[in-house]
Amino acid sequence: MKQSQEQVIFEYEGDNWFERNKTALNDDHLRRDQPLLLLDLYHLQPQKVLEVGCSNGYRLAEIAERYHCRVVGVEPSSAAIADGRERFPNVEFVQGVANAIPLHETFDLIIVNFVFSLVDRARILQTVGEIDRLLADGGLLIMGDFFPATPQKVDYHHLPQGEFFTFKQDYGAVFLASGIYHPISLLTGSHGSLTLSVEPQEQERIGTWLLRKSLNDLYTRRQFVTGS
Ligand SMILES: C[S@@+](CC[C@H](N)C(=O)[O-])C[C@H]1O[C@@H](n2cnc3c(N)ncnc32)[C@H](O)[C@@H]1O
Repeated sequence: MKQSQEQVIFEYEGDNWFERNKTALNDDHLRRDQPLLLLDLYHLQPQKVLEVGCSNGYRLAEIAERYHCRVVGVEPSSAAIADGRERFPNVEFVQGVANAIPLHETFDLIIVNFVFSLVDRARILQTVGEIDRLLADGGLLIMGDFFPATPQKVDYHHLPQGEFFTFKQDYGAVFLASGIYHPISLLTGSHGSLTLSVEPQEQERIGTWLLRKSLNDLYTRRQFVTGS
């Protein structure tokens, strides 16, 4: 039986991704990082931050230093967590996957960057549910991923063809369709260079949403008028 995308990530591809990319998770990357740009642009002051698919916690460590807040990361890769625990003592880690996050508290900011495109299609709505469960009413969601004009299923070139896919689409739209997420901002750019380019190629185009969750104040209330 074919393994789910989560099993592949948990068993080997999470560690492999970390080994391939760990040297690139550096200060230069952080300078061009769209989630950090959004925090800066909107003068956000998060108190309690969760990042899902946080790798070794390099972004969370930067957030803890800049905003003096509590930061928690969820990540399936043992190698990434072991590295993060050694290098970034301010970051709290839990091992897990996005569709079943082993936490029972809420956060005022959740970051999910380049994770949704790797989630098995059978678990995509569970993943949305888990993020929504852990985001407080009035909280903010920063979500970056590929952002093509139309959804694409692309063979993941580090694994044999047909084994694993990257699903490129606008994941902000899934949250916005619920009626309880409001769009604050969308940064677009190019995956290859992380730049705020206006003409990235279709395959490389990325988008980073800043959304605000509100259970009540996004609705216009209409009441029945009774009588004649
Ligand atoms: C493309 S990397 C992005 C890393 C990091 N979010 C960043 O912005 O640099 C994807 C990360 O998410 C993790 N990941 C992949 N699938 C996941 C899932 N279903 N749930 C949670 N994390 C996942 C991987 O192990 C990896 O650390």
